[in-house]
Amino acid sequence: MRPPFTSRLIAPLLFSLSMPSASSAVQGALHGLARTPPMGWNSWNHFGCDVSEQLVRETADAIVASGMRDAGYHYVVIDDCWEVARDSSGTLVADSGRFPHGIKALADYVHAKGLGLGIYTDAGSNTCQGRPGTLGHEEQDARTFAAWGVDYVKEDWCHAKGLDAPTLYRRFREALERAGRPIIFSLCEWGSNQPWEWAPGIGHLWRTTGDISDKWPSMLVNLDVTAQHARAAGPGGWNDPDMLEVGNGGMTDGEYRAHFSLWAILAAPLIAGNDVRSMSATTRDILTNRDVIAVDQDSLGVQGILMGEGPPEHQIWVKPLKDGGRAVALLNRSSAPAKITAHFNRLGLRADSVRVRDLWDHADRGAFGSQYQATVPAHGVVLVRITPMASR
Ligand code: GLA
Repeated sequence: MRPPFTSRLIAPLLFSLSMPSASSAVQGALHGLARTPPMGWNSWNHFGCDVSEQLVRETADAIVASGMRDAGYHYVVIDDCWEVARDSSGTLVADSGRFPHGIKALADYVHAKGLGLGIYTDAGSNTCQGRPGTLGHEEQDARTFAAWGVDYVKEDWCHAKGLDAPTLYRRFREALERAGRPIIFSLCEWGSNQPWEWAPGIGHLWRTTGDISDKWPSMLVNLDVTAQHARAAGPGGWNDPDMLEVGNGGMTDGEYRAHFSLWAILAAPLIAGNDVRSMSATTRDILTNRDVIAVDQDSLGVQGILMGEGPPEHQIWVKPLKDGGRAVALLNRSSAPAKITAHFNRLGLRADSVRVRDLWDHADRGAFGSQYQATVPAHGVVLVRITPMASR
């Protein structure tokens, strides 16, 4: 695929991306939440419909024990299939076999661990798995979720044929506001109605793509599509290239490091999608790499972009950071190792020399004047943080 930008455009683009986005003032209205991309865990990628209160409790325990909570993962989100019906007053009913104590008790448990609870619904008549949807029940469902102590709602877009996405998502967002509880609102209409044009100010995150699968090409498709909409992202509202597949087994550890690095460059929500109760030490180390998480969570809140230079399979992705530096991912999409070089004057950096730190090796590489070159493994990434030392 051709890079979307030419290098001639990079410096002014990086400069404009360092400025607060026009939409960030509007986004501040959403309870002031998600000033940096939301972090958490979601059941769907690994468990599908096999959700239960036992799974959610054990996952919350593991998020604490593994150090994920302290690294920033906050929301424990139950995806589709928790709900089975509406009762005679129209209130959503959880599957009593799987959630015998109900959602409120689960929220209490998760809160006692210092975490937030997330839940799933659908803007249409039914969820993607055929459970009751929120259409026509917006006020009631928003009040129910708030009363249960829910902190995050993901709203899907199945069974919504002929409906208007901006209207329905705005309706539910307003219902959530009336319900009075600060709740993260996650829009999941797969980018099919150009949410980057209207979702800032409605949701805190909006999916840009179809569902990710646990394969290298799928991850790259979601990266490339999301990269087209960098300008829509900013504090309060983020492009969402879908939940992480790190640790689910369909990619190599090197590919997962690349996946996690690129989500950080995109300032994407970091929503783990694996079984955190039984993850390997390597998976845990990827998900809790604080240097990489700091790139994602950088308070400047700018989504990184692809530099338009070099062969299409050897890419340079750059994200401006609050301290005036840059996070740079050297991405090798090919199946052979490659030397990739980042030239500092094309990164919009005004400095005679910079410090370079490798964020996967956790090693300072020293001072460099004009460029940084690394050998990048096949289907891999070298991720560095570049900090200016002296101004020009
Ligand atoms: C859609 C969403 C997924 C997941 C499933 C649940 O496919 O995009 O993220 O929520 O529905 O059915």
